[in-house]
Amino acid sequence: TVIQWFPGHMAKAKREVQEKLKLIDVAFELLDARVPMSSRNPMIDEILGQKPRLILLNKADMADEAVTEQWIRYFHDQGRLALPIDAQSGTGVRQIAAAAKEMVKDKFEKMRAKGIKNPRPVRALIVGIPNVGKSTLINRLAGRHIAKTGDKPGVTKAQQWIKVGKEMELLDTPGILWPKFEDEDVGYKLAVTGAIKDEILNLQDVAVYALRFLSTHYPNRLAERYGLDDIPDDIVALFDTIGRRRGCLTSGGAVDYDKVADIVLYDIRTEKLGRLSFETPASRT
Ligand code: G4P
Repeated sequence: TVIQWFPGHMAKAKREVQEKLKLIDVAFELLDARVPMSSRNPMIDEILGQKPRLILLNKADMADEAVTEQWIRYFHDQGRLALPIDAQSGTGVRQIAAAAKEMVKDKFEKMRAKGIKNPRPVRALIVGIPNVGKSTLINRLAGRHIAKTGDKPGVTKAQQWIKVGKEMELLDTPGILWPKFEDEDVGYKLAVTGAIKDEILNLQDVAVYALRFLSTHYPNRLAERYGLDDIPDDIVALFDTIGRRRGCLTSGGAVDYDKVADIVLYDIRTEKLGRLSFETPASRT
């Protein structure tokens, strides 16, 4: 998915999500555990309004566990429940239905008080930015493969409810929202974590951002991965050192910076530097 959000697209996406909200009891706000703020839609509070909301920190398997715990506490202090999950392997996914049920308890109590004996299942919708793992989670909750809308160009299929156990139903089409992409820092974080395609930002710029971040926050991991005795302050010197270590040289023997950028980003995305988080509650802008 190439993200091309124009004001018109944003307004349409917002309208589409709000249409779906009419059908559901609880929204699952899917965020990337490595970048919970940068992967968040800037207008999410306005879009979801008073609708009960469960925050899901997805890809927690790739995030720094200690930092994820900080985020859970941060959201808790704001009166919101957040669960760390890994939609790909399914870790944490079983807690979702129980948490959702708990969130709508009062509403369903009222339904019972009005004489509805067997209230319907809790209805839920997943919302999140592209690539955060919405379809992976839908498939995981459904226990089978659900075709992604947009898989077939020009084909719009009717929305359907997916049964998740006996007590929950999920809309099979997620709400797709946009990130805060006008912020440069956010753009780099989304690029580093692979949420936005590599064609959008310059790869060397993204790698510079990543290496600066790692030098400051995870210097030992960086040193260990690339066999560095110390980490040069100068970013070009750092590229040079990694390039020579990893044999990223042009035929003339100069360091091939594109190749270095490729390797560093590949290593980050495939967890060669371990589990990384790129923002903490304290660092959020
Ligand atoms: P979307 O619907 O929100 O656009 O996201 P989608 O489910 O397509 O997921 C985007 C990418 O993130 C996929 O990888 C998916 O496998 C991966 N992913 C989703 N959830 C998790 C998770 O909890 N942990 C990890 N580690 N990865 C997750 P991809 O590279 O696009 O495809 P592939 O690698 O699965 O082939």
